[in-house]
Amino acid sequence: MVKNPKESLTILTDIVLPGESNPLGNLFGGELLARMDRACSIAARRHSHSIVVTASVNHVAFNNAIPVGSVVTIEAKVSRAFKSSMEIYVDVWIEDRESQVRSKVNEGIYTFVAVDKSGKPITVPQLKPETPLEKERYEGALRRKQLSLILSGKMKPTDADELRKLFVG
Ligand SMILES: CC(C)(COP(=O)(O)OP(=O)(O)OC[C@H]1O[C@@H](n2cnc3c(N)ncnc32)[C@H](O)[C@@H]1OP(=O)(O)O)[C@@H](O)C(=O)NCCC(=O)NCCS
Repeated sequence: MVKNPKESLTILTDIVLPGESNPLGNLFGGELLARMDRACSIAARRHSHSIVVTASVNHVAFNNAIPVGSVVTIEAKVSRAFKSSMEIYVDVWIEDRESQVRSKVNEGIYTFVAVDKSGKPITVPQLKPETPLEKERYEGALRRKQLSLILSGKMKPTDADELRKLFVG
């Protein structure tokens, strides 16, 4: 089966309360990570129709602080499916109270694995990207998977063919 990224699109909108903030009055990084993880897990579940677990947080960029009172929208979508694993891209936006114009503040890349009831990895549907952004993210996903596996000690750098292409062409 082949699915498209929008079938997994998950949008979570919520407000930042004072109890979720640091002494500067901005959202705690850990609270944002938890919200991103939740959105990604729903996207992975929508793609795979399975139980999913977080295997890795590959990248998070805290580019901008998110002040208390902000309305935060988290959008997660599967960017590539492998055998049992899926890469999920998550974009974080806040909106201006008066103009309601949205600005992107953070992003992250998570890996989820579909598992059966005993926790054993199972095969997921493949993904066909459609938009230019979906295609760009799809293209880079194998390199990011190999990098994540190297960093977690699960792959030898010499086996990372796709990643090596970045450096040797
Ligand atoms: C994630 C998990 C299912 C992987 O199990 P495993 O026995 O290592 O299985 P495999 O080696 O076959 O890996 C399964 C897939 O995950 C991928 N994977 C595993 N670790 C990864 C990592 N660090 N980065 C990227 N991909 C990873 C593998 O490449 C494989 O992908 P593929 O099937 O698409 O090719 C297992 O480690 C687990 O259950 N971890 C705990 C998950 C959890 O509880 N998360 C919440 C933390 S509180």
